[in-house]
Amino acid sequence: VESTTITAKISAHYVDNARNLPWRVPPLRSAAGERPDPYHVWLSEVMLQQTTVAAVKSYFEAFTMRWPKVQDLAQANEADVLAAWAGLGYYARARNLHKCARFVVEELDGSFPQNEAELLKLPGVGAYTAAAIAAIAFGERAVVVDANIERLVARLFAIDTPLPSGKLEIKQAMDKLTPQSGAGDFAQACMDIGASICTAKNPKCMLCPVQLECRALVEGDVERFPIKPPK
Ligand code: ADE
Repeated sequence: VESTTITAKISAHYVDNARNLPWRVPPLRSAAGERPDPYHVWLSEVMLQQTTVAAVKSYFEAFTMRWPKVQDLAQANEADVLAAWAGLGYYARARNLHKCARFVVEELDGSFPQNEAELLKLPGVGAYTAAAIAAIAFGERAVVVDANIERLVARLFAIDTPLPSGKLEIKQAMDKLTPQSGAGDFAQACMDIGASICTAKNPKCMLCPVQLECRALVEGDVERFPIKPPK
């Protein structure tokens, strides 16, 4: 199946089915060129690293109400940031969050770097987060792979290589699927399908916009993918 068919179907599905999340620009406005605030994108992606969308929402609202700009967060006391983070877990993330805000304000004049390579140098920003911010906030054609996208792509192409080696093939497949423009919305479309349709258990393939293109579904064992490393 042509990658372009899969990309077009996933993109079209997102227009009508995107989750309305406080850090997003809705798909029609995004397609018209509107970009979200990079501070919001960075904050949400760091919060979402090991935490679900449902849990992150109220923390995101609380942080942006209390610290509306990256300058505000940079000036906050670390203890206050850690206290506001309580409940999200993985406290190294909160310490890096504050460190990163200070770096952006003190070294970069308050502007986040606009490309993946420079974003990767920020405290607490790894490969996934750098790609997500570059694509979503700045429109760069970065290849975004999180656990939801990994599962969706492994199933679409019935990728047989066990993780973690399989990650390279999954990234290559996602690279082929990612459109020249709108990479951020495409990634978020894939995340939404991974979170609500292409779930680890009991996937809802009858609701999937790419059910006809899915090789795992043809093979009749969608839940077999992605293949976990042998123990
Ligand atoms: N998980 C990580 N980043 C996300 C995003 N931008 N939208 C939905 N789920 C996500």
